Amino acid sequence: MALLDKLPDGVIVAGPDAIVAQLNQSAACMLDTAPDAAVGRHVRDVLPLDDLQGHHWFDSLRPYDGFAARTRLCEQSWYTPAGVELLITAQLVRDSPRGPVNELVLCVRSAHARARRDRDRSDLVATVAHELRSPLTGVKGFTSTLLTKWDRFSDEQRQLMLETVDSDADRLSRLITELLDAARIDSGRLTLRAAPVDFGALVQRVLDNISAGSGHALQARVADDLPKVWADSDRMAQVVTNLVENALRHGHGVDHVEVRRPYDDRDGLVLEVRDRGPGVPADVRSRVFTRFWKSGERGGSGLGLFIVKGIVDSHGGAVAIGDADTGGARFMVWVPENEPAVLREDSSGW
Ligand SMILES: Nc1ncnc2c1ncn2[C@@H]1O[C@H](COP(=O)(O)OP(=O)(O)OP(=O)(O)O)[C@@H](O)[C@H]1O
Ligand SMILES: [Mg+2]
Repeated sequence: MALLDKLPDGVIVAGPDAIVAQLNQSAACMLDTAPDAAVGRHVRDVLPLDDLQGHHWFDSLRPYDGFAARTRLCEQSWYTPAGVELLITAQLVRDSPRGPVNELVLCVRSAHARARRDRDRSDLVATVAHELRSPLTGVKGFTSTLLTKWDRFSDEQRQLMLETVDSDADRLSRLITELLDAARIDSGRLTLRAAPVDFGALVQRVLDNISAGSGHALQARVADDLPKVWADSDRMAQVVTNLVENALRHGHGVDHVEVRRPYDDRDGLVLEVRDRGPGVPADVRSRVFTRFWKSGERGGSGLGLFIVKGIVDSHGGAVAIGDADTGGARFMVWVPENEPAVLREDSSGW
């Protein structure tokens, strides 16, 4: 009995006459009774559980005189008189294959965790649907308008509408790529095509691309004698792009981009992106890396930093946020030198 009392799930054992022989502490707690008060009573009365239509579990499942080949009752949800949902599974122990039930072992588990998981999943579906719907609404609006009222618009107006449709379609496609990356990270299926990378050159390439779009030339400060790191260069370019775009979008412009050796005794290198914005408040720093977390007027889908962290973690590195001297945000990414398969346990302490 001592071992049964240590189990987080409730366990109730009844004999051939359906009289309770054992009941552990967790079961007593969930059923709001005491083990001593339950032992010796009929299992039907010890578990006063109904379904939503008011049918009692014992009368519905008939563990002792139902179908004689059964050895298990699979998980079902039942409700206490107070309306608490419990999940019940049972083992029907028979001495011979179709013989009478000698022992009924019931396992009782709270449905709370499962309900929360289900809720999280449907919240996720709702968020994804919402994110996809807003660019799609734009596309649909303009294409219907053009199809039904083509003649009423000038060439210039049509051109403008088609440009909006085009950029909404780009946004949708970007969003879908981000959602797929996030799903890969969630399920641990992010594959890396790792090779030795000249990280300083990679960062400057990303900055050149972004500069070409924005018109402001951005220059990285790259330390001499940096080691080559073992990384997936496309994925790392995604990390740099996300951080620099965040600095431009949320941080009032890039202040400084640097690639250097770590200040402590770690190997590999550190990428630092500092900006001139309001910074990331200390109390939200751990949350900004979670999926769909965004804030402020210029927030996008809130997937950027989740993907950054997922990619860096899968390289065995670490991401941290600090304050820049100028008051803006300071994002630091440590990329270890080793092959990505070698995961680091200690990723703290800058
Ligand atoms: N450099 C920064 N300065 C201040 N706040 C920032 C900075 N970078 C990110 N944030 C905050 O963190 C939030 C999450 O960032 P994240 O990159 O994950 O999403 P996003 O930029 O809103 O959307 P996207 O998925 O398009 O990147 C942002 O909405 C913003 O509020
Ligand atoms: Mg972003």
